[in-house]
Amino acid sequence: MKTRREFLRVAAVGAAASATQHLWAEQTGRTAAVPDVSGANSLQAHADAHGLLVGCAVVPEKLTGEPEYAGLVSAQSNILVPENAMKWKALRPAPDKFNFSGADTIVAFASAHGRKVRGHNLCWHVAIPDWFAATVTKDNARQILTEHIRTVAGRYAGKLHSWDVVNEAIDPKSGLPNGMRKSPWLELVGPDYVDLAFRTAREADPAPLLTYNDYAIETDAPDETEKREAVLALVRGMKKRGVPIDAVGVQSHLKTQNPAPGKGLRDFVRELRQMGLRVFVTELDVDEKKLEGSESERDAAIARIYRDYVTMMVAEPNVDAVLTWGITDRYTWLNGPKWARPDGKPQRCLPFYADYEPAPAFFALRDAVDTRLAGR
Ligand code: XIL
Repeated sequence: MKTRREFLRVAAVGAAASATQHLWAEQTGRTAAVPDVSGANSLQAHADAHGLLVGCAVVPEKLTGEPEYAGLVSAQSNILVPENAMKWKALRPAPDKFNFSGADTIVAFASAHGRKVRGHNLCWHVAIPDWFAATVTKDNARQILTEHIRTVAGRYAGKLHSWDVVNEAIDPKSGLPNGMRKSPWLELVGPDYVDLAFRTAREADPAPLLTYNDYAIETDAPDETEKREAVLALVRGMKKRGVPIDAVGVQSHLKTQNPAPGKGLRDFVRELRQMGLRVFVTELDVDEKKLEGSESERDAAIARIYRDYVTMMVAEPNVDAVLTWGITDRYTWLNGPKWARPDGKPQRCLPFYADYEPAPAFFALRDAVDTRLAGR
């Protein structure tokens, strides 16, 4: 048996080794020795120890077709969200048809591995099927929306942690009342479409935490501050009208060239807490399109953003889930044309490199999770 002194010495060496490893990773990027991030060293194990949910957006075809991807996802996450598989475009090949294959794959994978699932999403102005424009009218929009929500939320009733019921309804640039986004739902159903979607979702499945999800509400830049205010006003109104809403999702698509999120977002999270609402970091990644320097310099800058942002967010007791938008740079939407780097190099925006080795962002995220105070 180890004496207490021996035990402390071993523990101290272990801690020093991991601090060194971490420093090495953050400063130099890759070297030959890849730190072990499995088991007790995984992000998931660290999050479990702090009562936090951590996870990522996933693609069903990769879960079934690529064992290395599936292994990484299940090792590092305790919650998953479909990147596209629960959107209208994926679920609704025709007005009278549903295709649940991708969504079912994800829910089955999560259940087989004991992981939770967030639903994303029931109502959005993007990823609308091609048939929509010719089929949905002012006369039938309300019925088509509620039928969709009843069918989809009904199918997964009792199985989901949360639902992004409405995604991105606010866009103050539109100039419309209350900063509402110009969306087909607003035009066809009217401004009460948000309330309608939430009420219908609650009726279809009382279990999941019903979430309003939006982006560009993170920094203190004037346009983001204005948008955050509009989101707050929307949520406040919903609460006043007795609309069932439990959480707000802060997408958190951060950009290296933007100011770091700070007071405005912190105050927002605290106001939501006063209203009894939770906050989830739902789609975290760091767009480094504009970042110059060597790969290790870029990695260090990206890791710093992960560290500072997640540390700030998990310090708030009502923030209890952090999901990244993907897990590996191999499959990130940020390699699409809109976000391509001018030098043509791939984005290094997620916790795992394209070859599935952990990036400095992984260690930064894990350290940030460890700053969560115990007992909350
Ligand atoms: C993105 C996916 O990552 C892409 O694969 C797809 O082509 C477009 O949608 N906000 C959201 C997500 O709420 O659903 C979006 O996902 C990214 C922005």
